[in-house]
Amino acid sequence: MNRLFPFAFSLLLLLTSAGCVSRAAAPEDTSQPAPQDMSDLLTLDAEAEAFTVEEVPEPPEEPEEPYVRIIDPAKPMVALTFDDGPDGTHSDEILDTLEKNHALATFFEVGTNVLAYPEPVKRMADMGCEVASHSNAHKDLSKMKKKALLRDLDTADTAFLAAGVEAPTLVRPPYGAVNKTVKSATGRAMITWTVDTEDWRSRDAQTVVDYVKSLDDLDGEIILMHSIYGSTAQAVEILVPWLQEQGYQLVTVTELMAYYYGELPQPDHFYGYTYFSTHGRTDSPVPLPGEEIPGMGQPAGEAPVEPAEQSPETPDPALDQLPEPENEETTGWEPVRTAGTANLSPAKSVPNPALFYP
Ligand code: NI
Repeated sequence: MNRLFPFAFSLLLLLTSAGCVSRAAAPEDTSQPAPQDMSDLLTLDAEAEAFTVEEVPEPPEEPEEPYVRIIDPAKPMVALTFDDGPDGTHSDEILDTLEKNHALATFFEVGTNVLAYPEPVKRMADMGCEVASHSNAHKDLSKMKKKALLRDLDTADTAFLAAGVEAPTLVRPPYGAVNKTVKSATGRAMITWTVDTEDWRSRDAQTVVDYVKSLDDLDGEIILMHSIYGSTAQAVEILVPWLQEQGYQLVTVTELMAYYYGELPQPDHFYGYTYFSTHGRTDSPVPLPGEEIPGMGQPAGEAPVEPAEQSPETPDPALDQLPEPENEETTGWEPVRTAGTANLSPAKSVPNPALFYP
């Protein structure tokens, strides 16, 4: 017994240490519970398989080329403009078309509508479209006293700010109606249009499309439409790609002024019939604030490079001396291109806003 005890003790020690080694060699995995039965094992196998499939690297997708918008001042350009919005439905339809075609436009929005539908206004600004003012309540500004007129424009500005966009410096007076105060004493740039589609009159997409397509040369034109009609949104869906196919760049009003007419819209200046009828394409495009003229490379402020391969129209100096048409004091009727058959020579009477919608 005395000889057996040390042997038994040694055997016990050996077995105990072997157990320790065994535990040390296989540390417990605390992240996964040990499988309890065959169904657990099958589950783990399935997971392992799935994991293996995910591990197979997929071929890298071709990165989509980001669209870079470049305006060439030497090439034809048109400014599409939309008044009287925003509209709860049709503004977004027009924006969808513009976005799809990488085109921009200018929206002359009414302050009360901006309050009602701020989202499309923010969207157009985010897209790079020009957000401009069409007054707060679409009243004839030429019939307001100066104080009321300024209050109206300021009220509209608060609506734009509430929508998350800047207060516009560009204004299109409702009905195109201006007087001396509207033209030169609001601290804003006033601008009208050169082509009137009269979409408000026909409310028919095909009529609007046919009219625009019938015009010979749209280079430098400002086309008037309204973003509150489904028919106009339908017309835009056809016209935007068609204009681009004809080689026109679709630009904002300020881009058109800078690149085609060679100046930025100035506060207390009016850009109406006299301006557009006496200015052709400039040979000195100016850059937008803080930008270079795309593709031309010169920094803002330096003399722009003369666009190649074009023969700029030389305005007749005598035309620059022409006095403003008398009717511009009180009326928005301007002899612009129009889809209608009405006599558009400068009218002597004030138009009836109920009849003349812009
Ligand atoms: Ni209007």
